[in-house]
Amino acid sequence: MEELKHVAIIMDGNGRWAKKRGLNRSMGHKEGSKVLEELCLHAVSKKISYLSVFAFSTENFKRSKEEVDFLMNLFIEMFRKKFKELHKHGVKVVFSGRREPLRQDVLASMDEIVEKTKDNDKLVFNICLNYGGHTEIIDTTKKICQNVIDGKITLDDIDDNLFSKELYQDLPPIDLLIRTSGEYRVSNFMLWQMSYSEFYFTDTLFPDFHKEEFDKAILAYYERDRKFGGVKLEK
Ligand code: IPE
Ligand code: IPE
Ligand code: MG
Repeated sequence: MEELKHVAIIMDGNGRWAKKRGLNRSMGHKEGSKVLEELCLHAVSKKISYLSVFAFSTENFKRSKEEVDFLMNLFIEMFRKKFKELHKHGVKVVFSGRREPLRQDVLASMDEIVEKTKDNDKLVFNICLNYGGHTEIIDTTKKICQNVIDGKITLDDIDDNLFSKELYQDLPPIDLLIRTSGEYRVSNFMLWQMSYSEFYFTDTLFPDFHKEEFDKAILAYYERDRKFGGVKLEK
């Protein structure tokens, strides 16, 4: 079976988790942030090299100001305080997404954690924040066009490999994509990188998606038969 190098998670269901308990949606996000830390440390112990997570989509700005503000403040708290443990375990944090229109204090906390963890080499933790799959492809296309205009590359240089390298982060393809909370859609997540991903959907809401659940997804992955368009020879 193909090695499991890159896992991606669409962390969904925080709001419903809170609602079920008669709590404010924010409490679901807070609980979700704890689970995220647990899963990241678990990925390190499982020797997974890349973990990408969907933390905030470009579309999530449609939510109430109260919820958006809560999430932005939670991000700052996570990057400034909570992620100390991740740093100790050799996690390198990178971000994918547009900087505009994120708040200055959010951007500053992101820059800090990137700088602090840049030499770590146990796991690349790619946090998609103010991220959209279409926007990533558009931004990358513009960057490549500019390189052609500037004469740095020619049209013939553009291929799969070059395009992948010019995306927000230079990551290997996603092997396993997990979505929690029983929704069967990709919601504009890493469209380019998921071209041959194995999908794992679970009804479990993200704040309940602990490391045992993560293990179930990993196990399911190793039972899949990946063919990449070819034909497997019978043994
Ligand atoms: C995912 O949980 C977290 C973010 C999108 C930021 P939701 O907030 O989407 O939770 P539900 O889908 O409303 O339950
Ligand atoms: C996707 O979840 C975005 C994140 C997990 C950050 P949403 O809850 O925003 O997606 P939809 O609206 O159900 O498609
Ligand atoms: Mg949702």
